[in-house]
Amino acid sequence: MEEIREIAQKFERYSAHSHITGLGLDENLRARDIGGGLVGQKKAREAAGIIVRLIREGKMAGRGILIAGPPGTGKTAIAVAISKELGKDIPFVQVSASEFYSSEMKKTEALYQTMRKAIGVRIRDTRRVLEGEVVELDYNMVPNPYNPTQKIPESATITLATKSEKRRFSVGSRIAMQFMYAGITKGDVIVIDKETGRVTRLGKSSSAKKFDIGDEDVVEVPDGTVEKDKEFTYVVTLHDLDEARARRSTIFSLFSSESREIDNEIRQAVDEQVKDWIEQGMAELIPGVLFIDETHLMDIELFAFMNRAMESEMAPIIILASNRGFARIRGTDEVSPHGIPLDLLDRLLIITTEPYSREDIRLIIETRAAEMGLLIDESALEKLTEIGASNSLRYAIQLLAPANELAKIRNSSKIEVEDVERAEQLFADVSKSSAYLKEWEEKMLS
Ligand SMILES: Nc1ncnc2c1ncn2[C@@H]1O[C@H](COP(=O)(O)OP(=O)(O)OP(=O)(O)O)[C@@H](O)[C@H]1O
Ligand SMILES: [Mg+2]
Repeated sequence: MEEIREIAQKFERYSAHSHITGLGLDENLRARDIGGGLVGQKKAREAAGIIVRLIREGKMAGRGILIAGPPGTGKTAIAVAISKELGKDIPFVQVSASEFYSSEMKKTEALYQTMRKAIGVRIRDTRRVLEGEVVELDYNMVPNPYNPTQKIPESATITLATKSEKRRFSVGSRIAMQFMYAGITKGDVIVIDKETGRVTRLGKSSSAKKFDIGDEDVVEVPDGTVEKDKEFTYVVTLHDLDEARARRSTIFSLFSSESREIDNEIRQAVDEQVKDWIEQGMAELIPGVLFIDETHLMDIELFAFMNRAMESEMAPIIILASNRGFARIRGTDEVSPHGIPLDLLDRLLIITTEPYSREDIRLIIETRAAEMGLLIDESALEKLTEIGASNSLRYAIQLLAPANELAKIRNSSKIEVEDVERAEQLFADVSKSSAYLKEWEEKMLS
């Protein structure tokens, strides 16, 4: 159940913003009219551009940003654009505050784990490896002891070649299985970590290449000896390290499920370890971004915890988003701007988003339709713009897919106004559905 919910949430999150590829700024960090899938909202996009630079330069660590504005004005969209701009090297974790409330762990624990997922550690490591092109690979297959109808490799012999030498090795079932799972075949260039036995496929060797086109990831046959020291860099998150250490430290972890609480002692030990690595020049900290959407769902306890955690040396950059003006802080009777405690507000840079003009709404719907590959008739676009302006932009965007289905049923390749009207009848927006339920409640009570 848990897992399905997770997937559903993620799906919604990405699908609603799949047209967004960046902030759409020029080299002077000025917003183009349309860029990166974003339309208008220029001040907020330009501010976000500055934030991206500050993050890249490491000048935002432990600080926070609040994106505030009315519903449907692109707060989530801008956060997504920030993550696209930051690229793959900087961790970006997106959650809704509702995800902190689960039955599996304390909410502050859930928040803490999420914060640690947003901090990367780039580790440089020299390892003893065997590297070369596979010129021979033979498995010794035996029946699987648990399922005799299946065969598994008990061992294998492999010959690896570099430009200057060839060496033959025999390996046990664990490594042989990895060859199988990774689909290693003759002509692949691979690396085997001597200590851990981990197998990595680098690509097809250029000498074994068969076709001019369509041969994926071709690599050179390595120089030198097969066995050598090789430097690797890889990025893990503090949370990955926490989990790995937790798994090692308790026997129970063998049987327990994946998500669970982690002892603070374990986190302290990980922090010490990482600091050690940094001092020895083996690692580098990459503070990433934790984007907490629907911030109004956080309560005072979560805010207090986060505020404290942001002061630590190893804290991610926090981005919050709120569509509330003045609101009660959850878990208190206190009212404050955006329902966020004042001491936290004090450390946030605030970006505001503004309501869209009709023209913007029209363009956003058009961009979105184009991204989905939909054809839309002029009057249907006008109708959707109308809906976007009077109900909400999100509702108008959501109607695109069903309207397109309705057009298909009519055998039309283009969405026309009747499809939009029909979709609008069939699917309610939030204000309509809640008003409808309210009316029924009243009728049933009286
Ligand atoms: N400037 C924009 N350009 C292109 N698409 C946009 C823009 N602003 C919003 N959108 C799209 O409109 C929809 C609604 O925007 P979004 O969800 O970002 O609003 P929000 O401010 O986060 O609203 P809420 O307060 O309800 O969370 C999304 O599909 C989003 O991708
Ligand atoms: Mg949002």
